[in-house]
Amino acid sequence: MEKKVLVATVKPFASQAVEEIKSICSKKGYELILMEKYPEQNDLVKAVKNVDALIVRSDKVTSEVIENSVELKVVVRAGAGYDNLDCDAASRKNIICMNTPGQNSNAVAELAFGMMLYMARSKFNGKSGSELKGKTIGIHAYGNVGLNIARIAKGFGMKVIAFDPYVDNAKMVADGVIPVSNVEELYQKSDYVSLHLPSIPATQKFVNYKLIKTLKKDATIINTARKEVVCEDSLIEILTERSDLKYASDIAPVKAEEMVEKFGDQVYFTPKKMGAQTLEANVNAGVAAIKQIIAYFEKGDTKFQVNK
Ligand code: 3PG
Repeated sequence: MEKKVLVATVKPFASQAVEEIKSICSKKGYELILMEKYPEQNDLVKAVKNVDALIVRSDKVTSEVIENSVELKVVVRAGAGYDNLDCDAASRKNIICMNTPGQNSNAVAELAFGMMLYMARSKFNGKSGSELKGKTIGIHAYGNVGLNIARIAKGFGMKVIAFDPYVDNAKMVADGVIPVSNVEELYQKSDYVSLHLPSIPATQKFVNYKLIKTLKKDATIINTARKEVVCEDSLIEILTERSDLKYASDIAPVKAEEMVEKFGDQVYFTPKKMGAQTLEANVNAGVAAIKQIIAYFEKGDTKFQVNK
């Protein structure tokens, strides 16, 4: 029987990405159901009922969504972080969860540099700023985005250091990156710290008072990862104590409004999470998602499964 694939995106893909997903589906004889900018979480709960596969971005695939599905066999998070999927609920129903690692990482890395320049150049307000050349960037977690950060940073003439206990130092060295031996050292030596930690139980509020406090004078933290990895109260405390530090994030903190009012030019938050919001990233991640679904249905391919 014809497979039904639901693409549910509160924040839609670029239309070219949708067209490409549609065309791949129609060549395979799959039915594509597109649900963009849906206003209520309940819309997803209802829409998932009779579909075989689901593609989402940061949309919340809760246990309620999973429980309400009847035919669902595979969920693909078109992106890297899958903290929006209730993988345990999916596993209980033998539903495969996947992500599409690496497909949007250049877009996220480029945005991080946009934010770095914005902060370095006094938010483009005409006042004198500083340059990235000659500065040290500390990459906190060296995954797909981290390695793109390293590549671009070298073009800016930055010194690149990184900390990731799960990545071999040899890999970093091969990329021209200097591995540091502990996370404290990363913060102590960096003019810019770029965060790329996944949001998992072990990383909640990982960037805490003790760590932020060790930052060099005039340092900036750039967060294109998740707000949960930073302890917001610590951040507020330290920004109050140290007017030389800056924080820019693609994921607004809970107390964003209060922070903007209190810290002005020390902070910047994008109006909407937009790291992966490029045509290229949307096409890469969207096409990868549908191809992974087809590979799963046709060959049982579970290479990108995250709920093993
Ligand atoms: C990711 O984890 O891939 C990024 O955070 C992008 O998320 P988005 O698809 O919601 O923009």
